[in-house]
Amino acid sequence: MKILAIESSCDETAAAVVENGTKVLSSVVNSQVAIHAQFGGVVPEVAARSHVEAINPVINLALKQANLTWDDIDAIAVTDGPGLSGSLLIGTLAARTLAIVKNKPLYGVNHILSHFYANFLSNPKIEFPVLSLTVSGGHSQLVLFKNQFESEQLGTTTDDAVGEAFDKVAKIIGLGYPGGPEIERAAKDGQNVFKFTKPRTQNPYNFSFSGLKTAVLRQAQAQIGQDYTFPSFKIAEKLSEQDKLDLATSFQTTAIEILTEKTKLAYDQYQPKTVALAGGVSANKALRDSFTQTFPKLIMPEFQFCTDNAAMVGAQAYFWAQKHQPDNPYSLEINLKQGVK
Ligand code: KG4
Ligand code: ZN
Repeated sequence: MKILAIESSCDETAAAVVENGTKVLSSVVNSQVAIHAQFGGVVPEVAARSHVEAINPVINLALKQANLTWDDIDAIAVTDGPGLSGSLLIGTLAARTLAIVKNKPLYGVNHILSHFYANFLSNPKIEFPVLSLTVSGGHSQLVLFKNQFESEQLGTTTDDAVGEAFDKVAKIIGLGYPGGPEIERAAKDGQNVFKFTKPRTQNPYNFSFSGLKTAVLRQAQAQIGQDYTFPSFKIAEKLSEQDKLDLATSFQTTAIEILTEKTKLAYDQYQPKTVALAGGVSANKALRDSFTQTFPKLIMPEFQFCTDNAAMVGAQAYFWAQKHQPDNPYSLEINLKQGVK
């Protein structure tokens, strides 16, 4: 089964052709990072406009690179949420229109779950049950997969996602966008001198990173002898280089401890055969090292499939299609809820 998949939930316009959920025949990603970097973060209106410009060329290129025509395609898959509404609308409208015009079954899939399915692209033989942590700019989520088809959400984002916290902390200490890789670089040269409190959540598997981000802000204000009224955008110019590095290290250390400890708690309770790590933040080497040391059987997607892409959407749709009817292309709606369907 060859699926043409489309992903446009945030700031990447992506299309791919995937065969039987595991074989990538093409994967095209048009990133808007350079456009949003000048604003220090993703601007939703700009993202939606850029998707409009990129979506048709990206889909055509995915078909061309796979050396296929529409006659060879068995189904269309698209991310229907969660994400930015304007961005999701462009991808779903393109997919719905193509499904009608080309007369193909249409499958809307959940973006957060599809990050896990990226694992099938490099490692088709996965031992279940799998405990999966997806960490990215929009979500931090722990899901237990009983098999390829069934999953149970254990915990999710309650405020800022972990990648968002990396991006915001980077902004406070004057680093570029996206903040994750910048913090990781700075953290190598700093010391873990600031001990930040780890938040308690009612459901121990839920994630809250907004308090940690604010703790970094308050510590940065204290380092320059200012109180909480001092504007965050002026802090970086007064912070010493050493303080910037130490704040990056202390923040990253705490964030990784939170992610590792929550995943370990679920690991001990559910005793899965495999732990999976996915999403843009899983590019972080210190996080990978912490997980490698903690969990005996750890799988991660190839780096190119860790960040947003459409191949993971094609992989998920293949397994989804084994158990579910296609969606109605005339009525498929976007779904902004963090939870999975
Ligand atoms: O999965 P992704 O590409 O897009 C979303 O679905 O959000 O993740 C992007 C996020 C950004 O917040 C970025 O700062 C973070 O992943 N990120 C990292 C690293 N590389 C990307 N965070 C920490 N360390 C990294 N090396
Ligand atoms: Zn994502």
